[in-house]
Amino acid sequence: MTNEKRSSFTGKLGFVLAAAGSAVGLGNIWRFPYLAAKYGGGIFLLVYIILAVTLGFALMTAEIAIGRKTGLSAIGAFKELNKKYSFVGWLAAVIPMIILPYYSVIGGWVTKYLFAFLTGNGTMTAGDEYFGGFISQTAEPALWFFVFIGITAVIVLFGVEKGVEKVSKIMMPILVVLSVGIAVYSVCLPGAMDGVRYYILPDFSKFSATTVLAAMGQLFYSMSLAMGIMITYGSYMKKDVNLESSVGQIEIFDTGIAFLAGLMIIPAVFVFSGGTPEALGKGPSLMFVTLPKVFETMWGGHFVGILFFLLVLFAALTSSISLMETVVSIVCDKCKIGRKLSCLIVFAGSVVLGLISIFGYSIWSHITIIGLQFLDFFDFISNSVLMPVVAFLTCVFVGYVIKPQSLIDEVELSSKFKRKKLFVFVIKYMAPICIVLILVSSVLDAFGIFKI
Ligand code: TRP
Repeated sequence: MTNEKRSSFTGKLGFVLAAAGSAVGLGNIWRFPYLAAKYGGGIFLLVYIILAVTLGFALMTAEIAIGRKTGLSAIGAFKELNKKYSFVGWLAAVIPMIILPYYSVIGGWVTKYLFAFLTGNGTMTAGDEYFGGFISQTAEPALWFFVFIGITAVIVLFGVEKGVEKVSKIMMPILVVLSVGIAVYSVCLPGAMDGVRYYILPDFSKFSATTVLAAMGQLFYSMSLAMGIMITYGSYMKKDVNLESSVGQIEIFDTGIAFLAGLMIIPAVFVFSGGTPEALGKGPSLMFVTLPKVFETMWGGHFVGILFFLLVLFAALTSSISLMETVVSIVCDKCKIGRKLSCLIVFAGSVVLGLISIFGYSIWSHITIIGLQFLDFFDFISNSVLMPVVAFLTCVFVGYVIKPQSLIDEVELSSKFKRKKLFVFVIKYMAPICIVLILVSSVLDAFGIFKI
């Protein structure tokens, strides 16, 4: 895409909503609560928030500023700023290719639950064995995965982004209202207070390097950082839109929804399974196991369930569409092939990887890689390994190659940069050091070589 032809967001609101639309998705509602439950509750939340206002703030500012400065998306932007570093853009481009397939598998689960609630079978999903029974099959999860990724592919093919954006503006506020409502209900369930305490009060004895790595991976995932998306969004941003306060608003939006999702789910885990380590460590299945139980006890829960899964499905679709769009446009540009063909290639590749994730829970459940099933392994590789690596390289690139000042100048085109000192400190020192230490210790940990 050339500079002259580049379309741009109409104003600040348009930019913030579009970026928040990409950021808010399954990461907030499905992934955040299960990680928080697994990694010690309050301590995870605390680490997450500290990372969000330092690392998240600095990286998002850097990415958006790189995009706005060059007017290009990731691969082109790094290349234009310094030829030697174009590999960082490439590395970033690999991440959505890994995420899209397993994201769509989870999207398929959400579709299945919506269908169950729509057909009056919502109460069935509240059974203890329901979820495990569902994902250990092969054909059913595969069918729902096809439905989800099929819808995504059709929308990407026809490119109805404008429609999606308009619907987002209506659906997102409803999602917020509904989340607040369900969270309040959940917190008021008898016995929920233990869960609220677990979720909000940090227990420092549960702190470890893996907590920080998991929180960091979640931060990148949730805010769509370290994969070039925010660079692309920045390239669409007008020069007079206040960059620093936009970043703040996107962060508040994204973290707010994640926090609410935790409040919907974690207290309910205490109510229904007593908050045992086993119940809290359930992992990817947590949302699918706990929420139906909440809806079952709720007055009008059946209807709330329909609405809830519809909105989650919607949030997931807007994210999967932009994930696929990213991959398709890279394949288009780099392989010099048409949009339709590249859409087909991406679809086929994702189906293969997605099926591997599905089989990993069923016929291949005996196979694990470093103790993880396929879906969890893809999640680990992209969020806990590749994203930190890209984030590290981005910091080094900004801090020592193009120098922070070049981006500060970009931010200051639209307003005074209030947190300039924080930005420089995080980019040059805090982020690179933290990322390396944590990445090394936890990767060694994952391979069982060394334990902290
Ligand atoms: N942030 C999204 C979520 O929370 C997931 C995601 C990661 C994403 N990277 C993305 C979405 C890129 C769109 C584009 O679910």
